[in-house]
Amino acid sequence: MSMTVSLAPQVALITGGGQGIGRQTALTLAAAGARVAINYFPDNAGQNLQLAQAVVAEITQAHGPDAAAAFGADVRDAAQVSQMYAQAIDQFQRLDIVVNNAGILRDRSIKKMSLEEWSSVIDTNLSGVFHSCQQAALHLSPGGKIINVASLSAVMGFFGQANYAAAKSGVLGLTKVLARELAKSNIRVNAVAPGVVDTEMGQSIPEENRRLMQQQIPLGRFAEPREISEVILFLASDLSSYMTGQTLHVNGGWWF
Ligand code: NAI
Repeated sequence: MSMTVSLAPQVALITGGGQGIGRQTALTLAAAGARVAINYFPDNAGQNLQLAQAVVAEITQAHGPDAAAAFGADVRDAAQVSQMYAQAIDQFQRLDIVVNNAGILRDRSIKKMSLEEWSSVIDTNLSGVFHSCQQAALHLSPGGKIINVASLSAVMGFFGQANYAAAKSGVLGLTKVLARELAKSNIRVNAVAPGVVDTEMGQSIPEENRRLMQQQIPLGRFAEPREISEVILFLASDLSSYMTGQTLHVNGGWWF
């Protein structure tokens, strides 16, 4: 028996979709037939716009001119997120899947952590997900799916990550509440919690820490972005039609 996962004619919005896990998720969902709205953080130098445009080009070359488009918005800003949803729905005429992937890391032990380091991570990694989920609740088609990208840190609490672990465990709580609240619209809300993934963020971990972490992973290596995006595809597809409010841990068997 052969089986293919098809998301057509659905539309997916991915926050922070210009690089890393977000970029690979855009490529994976597009390969499964979704049209994709790629969100990027509008930095002054225009670097993120370029990255998002490169992902759009890759997808439209493979799947046609209407298969992808880029939309700027800082997820920390509720008004920008609301405007981005309006623009994406205007462009694609529907919205079925939202992947809340945008996130930052500002590690520091608690005694040294500045208020700015605390707030910037909470604002991006938790409030950013709230802003997007609120818009998703208002605009997703019945049968829609929300997938929130959390982290192993939410349940293990890695050293130096008071801000990050607090935000990511907040995302897991938010996921469970929204699963209950949106079930009557048949909108499923789940989370994926990666271990360490080889992206710019994963590579920013100091080499010695990376080596120590790798020793604790039964599979003995970090994840490739594809291995996270394919679990996101599972949660976005009907293969997971009876799952909501869950967290899938994708971490090479790291025990917690
Ligand atoms: P990355 O640093 O390569 O990409 C993060 C993306 O988020 C970038 O495109 C960035 O521009 C965007 N972003 C940051 N702030 C934003 C804002 N205010 N508004 C809009 N976009 C914003 O990181 P990576 O590794 O791809 O991470 C993606 C998600 O996966 C994050 O939520 C991260 O916390 C999570 N994660 C990553 C792990 C890793 O080892 N790389 C492990 C566990 C979770």
